[in-house]
Amino acid sequence: MILQHQKDLFDLPEDITYLNIASQSPIFKAIYDAGINGLKQKSRPYTITGSDYFEPVTELKKLFAKLIEVDDYNRIATIPSVSYGIATVANNVTLNSGDEILVIDEQFPSNYYSWEKLAKKYNATIKTISAPNIETDRVKQWNENILEAITDKTALVAMGNIHWSNGSLFNLKNIRKKTTQHNALLVIDGSQSVGALPFSVKDIAPDALICAGYKWLFGPYGCAYAYFGSYFDNGTPLEENWGNRLDSENFTGLTNYQPKYKPLANRYCVGESGNFIYIKMQIEALKQVIEWTPKAIQDYCKSISAKAVEELKVLGCEIEDENYRTHHLFGIKLPENLNIAILKSALTEQNIFVSFRGNYIRISCHLYNTAEDFSKLVKCMTSVLAK
Ligand SMILES: Cc1ncc(COP(=O)(O)O)c(C=O)c1O
Repeated sequence: MILQHQKDLFDLPEDITYLNIASQSPIFKAIYDAGINGLKQKSRPYTITGSDYFEPVTELKKLFAKLIEVDDYNRIATIPSVSYGIATVANNVTLNSGDEILVIDEQFPSNYYSWEKLAKKYNATIKTISAPNIETDRVKQWNENILEAITDKTALVAMGNIHWSNGSLFNLKNIRKKTTQHNALLVIDGSQSVGALPFSVKDIAPDALICAGYKWLFGPYGCAYAYFGSYFDNGTPLEENWGNRLDSENFTGLTNYQPKYKPLANRYCVGESGNFIYIKMQIEALKQVIEWTPKAIQDYCKSISAKAVEELKVLGCEIEDENYRTHHLFGIKLPENLNIAILKSALTEQNIFVSFRGNYIRISCHLYNTAEDFSKLVKCMTSVLAK
């Protein structure tokens, strides 16, 4: 499937060049309408029925399960943030003294602090795999270093499918193979890839996948998703919520306290998962992402950025080889002679939104962007270099 731009679905003004969905997505019209419907329902609470607390969440779990190729939607939990999901995983992992938790350099903090805490608790070690300081084959070598670092000491590997700040692609298939050989758990943060890059649980078989919902999945800020594999089937949730217990649909029996949880990952859902406003928005968002398909989104992003990538390289920017990075999100190392303060103010003046990190900028795009947006970025960069 080849997608055309979908600008008409969004409410982004013509003079805005938004290349920063990796920070926060805009929403499209169907999501906006769904949110309004949720608000209307809240305005008239007598229209809220018992099944409204459960059925929409089940529909949402089925959609996320479909997106990441999971057969049983009961393996999906709706959670409020990545930190909540990672804390849930960490809460169910027991280590031995001297074990290693492997993470990637400059990993997002919500996928770091819980590991630091867990390592402290069990006198284990955090092993961080840095990006090699080489010009060619940097990500290829990085992947090799990750594989080499997985040994019998490794208890758990926690990482993204890509690096959140520059789109470096990690070979999860090989990493899964090595972790299985050494009996280590694999926990993936899919926040910057799921939705815009194909991801299949059937293919990778992670022990857990945690994913923010407000970026590539177009959800409201405060929604996230988790997949839990069989290792977590009998685990302990962070909180004890009435809705996660068996037969909680039977409101009259709620105080016949129920010792059993609903099956599989349901126990890990955050309290008040049935949020009438959020869930309606999330359902519309995931339906559309599934219809677009992550593969076609990735291809579209490649098609609108390819020319600009070449032009930026001519200007002296460094961009990772396209076989080792994603197209929906990538880093640009700025030329040494470029004044970052001037670039920042020029971008602001021209309403071009990107993310800055030291002498890098992170570009992230979607179907509301066009090649014209990238031309504007190149033009802006060219004019700053000429100053
Ligand atoms: C890789 C990654 N993980 C997680 C998050 C968000 O974490 P949380 O939901 O805990 O705020 C982000 C936000 O930018 C991210 O880039």
